[in-house]
Amino acid sequence: MGHLYSRRDFLGLGAAAAGASLAAPGVFLDPLPLAAMPQGTAASDRVRFGMVGVGMQGNGLLARAIQLPGVECAAACDLYDGRHALAQEIVNSTLPVTRHYKDLLDNKEIDCIIAAVPDHWHKQVVVDAVSAGKDIYCEKPMSHTPADGLEMVAAEKKSERIVQIGSQRVSSALLTKARELVRDGAVGDLMMVEAVLGRNDPNGAWEYPPPPDLSPQNLDWDTWQGNVPKRAFDPNLFARWRCWKEYGTGVAGDLLVHLISGMLYVLSISEPPRRAMAAGGILRWNDGRNMPDVHNTIFEYGKIPVVMRLNLGTEIPESYRFMGSKGLLDISSEQLILTPQSGKDEAPSWYANSFPRPLREAYAKNWHEQHDPALGHEPIRQASIFRSVDYNEVKPHLWNFFQAVKTRQPVVENAVFGHNAALACHMANESYFRHSAVYWDEHSKMIKS
Ligand SMILES: NC(=O)c1ccc[n+]([C@@H]2O[C@H](COP(=O)([O-])OP(=O)(O)OC[C@H]3O[C@@H](n4cnc5c(N)ncnc54)[C@H](O)[C@@H]3O)[C@@H](O)[C@H]2O)c1
Repeated sequence: MGHLYSRRDFLGLGAAAAGASLAAPGVFLDPLPLAAMPQGTAASDRVRFGMVGVGMQGNGLLARAIQLPGVECAAACDLYDGRHALAQEIVNSTLPVTRHYKDLLDNKEIDCIIAAVPDHWHKQVVVDAVSAGKDIYCEKPMSHTPADGLEMVAAEKKSERIVQIGSQRVSSALLTKARELVRDGAVGDLMMVEAVLGRNDPNGAWEYPPPPDLSPQNLDWDTWQGNVPKRAFDPNLFARWRCWKEYGTGVAGDLLVHLISGMLYVLSISEPPRRAMAAGGILRWNDGRNMPDVHNTIFEYGKIPVVMRLNLGTEIPESYRFMGSKGLLDISSEQLILTPQSGKDEAPSWYANSFPRPLREAYAKNWHEQHDPALGHEPIRQASIFRSVDYNEVKPHLWNFFQAVKTRQPVVENAVFGHNAALACHMANESYFRHSAVYWDEHSKMIKS
C-alpha cells in the first residue's frame, strides 16, 4: 500500500492518516439498489428478458439476473449449442433456446434483452433489439468502431428504448460515493487522473481454452463471423477473439473501457477525450494477435490530463488516483481512500537556506511566529476510508437496468455515455496504430490525427 502515500505524508501530518488507513475500520457502503429490492413481486410486475450470448460473461449475467426478484429469463440464444445446454443448466431444462436472436426479438413475452456477444456483434444486436421495441443491456465496449457507436446512439434516440451498456462499476455504491466526494469538492480542483491495471498469466492475456467439442456442426461459424471477411473455422478465433481487431477492441475495449466509464461517472461527465496519445506493443504474448498487450495512453478531458496504463505482461493491482488541489482520492475495487492535503506550507521555505544566517534566522523565526499552531491546537487531518462490495459486481447494474425497464426512467450508462467511453478506447487504438496523437472531430464525427 506504500505507493498510495508520498514520502511527505509519512514524514508529516499525513503519517497519522496513513497509519489510520491501515487500522481504521472505515465506512462500509451498502450497494443501495440491492438493499432497496422488494421481496415478492406480482406477476404483472415481472420483467422477462431474453439472453443473447451465453459465453464467459453471458453465463454470469444470466445466473445473476435470475437471482433478482421479479426478473425471469424467458429464452436464451447462442450460436454454439453447448451454450444452449449451459443456459438450461443455469435457468431450467425447459428454457427455450435458439441460434437466432431475432426469435427473441419477435417474442411478445420478452420485455428486454441482455446481450453478451463479442464486440463485432454489439451494434447489430442493439440496433435490431431497439428497432424491435426491446430495451437492451449490452456489454461493453458499446461499439467496435466510432461509426457503430453513432448508429447505436441514433437507434436509441429514434426508438426511445432503454439502452444500458455493461460497465457495471457505473452502478457501484463505491463509485457513487467517489462521485459525491468529487462533486462536493473533497479533492478540490482536479489536476490529474491516473489509472493502472496489469495481468501476468495466459488467461489474463485472453489465451482461453476453446470448448473441446466445438465444431461447425454445433456452432454457426458463418454467422459468428458477422461482417468480418470469412476465415476457415478456427476454435481459437471463437474463444480468443479479443486478440484480433477484426472482432475485439484490444485491451482498450476490454479493460480500459471500464476505467474510462468509471472515471466519467466519478467526474459526472459524458464526453469523449479531446485528444489521445498512446504507446505500446505486443511485448509478451506473441501468439499471432494483432492487438497490443501493453497499451499506455495519455488523454485530455477538457484541460485535465488522464493517464491510463494497461499491461498484460506484469500483474499490477487495478487502481485509480484522482489528484486535486485538496488531496488524493485513491480507488481500488473494494475501497476508496480520501487523503486530504492542506495545499499550504507546513514548514519555512527551503529557499531560505540560500539566505545568509541573520536573514535566514529572522525569516524562520518570523515564519514560526506566524504559522505555528497554538500549543494544544495542532491540526489533525483525517483520511477517510470507504469500503463496499467489489465494483465489478454486476447485480446492481443489472438491477438498475431492470428498474429502468419498469419505470422508463433513464439510465446513467446509456448509448451516449457508452459511445463516449468507447470513443476513448478507439482513440487509444487509433493512436497506437497511427503512431501519432489523435483527436475526435465532432464535425466530421471521425478520429483524426
Ligand atoms: N462487463 C464485464 O466485466 C465483462 C467481462 C467479460 C466480457 N465482457 C463483454 O461481454 C461480451 C462477451 O464476451 P465473452 O467473453 O462472454 O465472449 P464469449 O466468446 O465467451 O461469448 C460470446 C458468446 O456469444 C455468442 N454469439 C456470438 N455472436 C452471436 C450472435 N450473433 N447471436 C447469438 N450469439 C452470438 C457466441 O457463440 C458465444 O457463445 C464482450 O463484449 C465482452 O467485452 C464484459
